[in-house]
Amino acid sequence: MIESERALSVFAKQFGGGKPDLLVHSPGRVNLIGEHVDYNAGLVLPMAIDRGTTFAVRANGTKNVRLFAETFNAADSFDLSRVAKAGKCDWANYVRGVAALLLESGVDVPGADIAILSDLPVAGGLSSSASLEVGAATAFLGLAGATMEPLKLALLCQRAEHEYAGVPCGLMDQFAVVFGKVGHAIRMDCRTLEHQLVPCDHEAIAWVILDSRAPRKLAASGYAKRRKECDKALALLKKAGEKVETLRDVTVEMLEANEDRLGATLASRVRHVVTEIGRVVEGSEYLAIGQYDLFGRLMYASHRSLTTEYEASIDALDHIVETGADTLGVYGCRMTGGGWGGCAVALLAVEATRFFQERVTRSYVKKFGREPGYVVARPSDGVRVERV
Ligand code: GLA
Repeated sequence: MIESERALSVFAKQFGGGKPDLLVHSPGRVNLIGEHVDYNAGLVLPMAIDRGTTFAVRANGTKNVRLFAETFNAADSFDLSRVAKAGKCDWANYVRGVAALLLESGVDVPGADIAILSDLPVAGGLSSSASLEVGAATAFLGLAGATMEPLKLALLCQRAEHEYAGVPCGLMDQFAVVFGKVGHAIRMDCRTLEHQLVPCDHEAIAWVILDSRAPRKLAASGYAKRRKECDKALALLKKAGEKVETLRDVTVEMLEANEDRLGATLASRVRHVVTEIGRVVEGSEYLAIGQYDLFGRLMYASHRSLTTEYEASIDALDHIVETGADTLGVYGCRMTGGGWGGCAVALLAVEATRFFQERVTRSYVKKFGREPGYVVARPSDGVRVERV
C-alpha cells in the first residue's frame, strides 16, 4: 500500500501546497477461486490485498473536480454540474462515473482536488478499476460528510464500471474492495449478496501473485463474449423446460441431459461454471481448516477448467501454473481475474517462496523474453479513510 507521507507530498506538489482533508486507501483484490461465476450468481472467494490505490483529497470550494494520477503523470478535471465521460482519458472515467452516480443518488458531492497514487499493475487483473471506483466514491462521500451502506456502495461502483467504462463486470471486485478483512478471504454468494469471512493467513503459507505482464488485448472482447455465451446457454436450458433462474441452478445431471441441445462450446462453458462453484464450496472449507494441500489441488483443477472449458487463459499463464505444479512446496496455482492476460495466484509453503521465484522467473524469461511480476500478498482490510 502507498505510504501516507508520499501521498501527502504528491498532493502538495500538485495542488499548490497545504494538506489534504483526508486520505483514502482502497485495496486491490486477488480471487483465490471461483472464476467467471459471479455474473452467473455463483460463489467466489476473493481477498483484498495489501496493494491498492491511495487518494489524497481536499474540498476546493468550487464545482470542479481536479484530478492528478501519478501513475500516468496525467491530469483531468470536470464540472460537477454536467459530468460527462472523458473520452480517451480512461482512468478518469471511473472517477467521473462514481461522481455522477453519487450525485444522482442525492449525495452533495463537493468540488475537490484529488491526487491518486497506486501500486497495482494497471489492467493487471488485480482490480485496479474497482479499487479506483470504490476509493473515489469513498473519498467523495467523506468530503460530503455522507455515508452509504457498503453493499449499496459496491453496487454503485459496479454500475459506474458498466456505464462509464463499458465493462459488463460482475460484482465480485467491488465487493471484495469494500468488504475485505485483514487475515481473511471473502466467501461471497453472488445470488444473495451475503458473505462470510474465511481465515486464509497463516505463518506457514504465502499467497504469491505472478503477473504475466502479457498485453490484455482480448480481455474486454473475450469477457463480453463469455457473458453472452452464458446468457445463451441459460436461455436454451429454460427453453428446454429446465427450472433455472441462473446458471447457479444448473446441476451436473441437468447439464449432461442437455449437452446435445447446448452444443459442445456452450456445454463446456456451463461445465466450467457448475464445477467451479462446487470447487468454491469445497475449497472454502479446506481453507478454513488449514488443508492447504487440498485447497491447492482445487486451484489446479480450476485452472484446467478455465483453460479447456472456458478458454480464458493464455500460454504465459499456463506456463506459470505448470511450473508451479512442478515445484516442491507449491500447493496450488491458477490464473486469477478475467483472464486473457493478467495474473496467476499461487499458494505455497512459506519456505518455498524464494525457490519458486527463481525457478519460475528463469523458465518464464527463457520462454517469453520478459520477467513475470512476483509479489507476496497479504489478505487485507477493505477501503478505509484516514483523517489528516
Ligand atoms: C473480472 C470481473 C469480475 C469477474 C472476473 C472473473 O475481474 O470484473 O466481475 O467476473 O473477471 O471471475
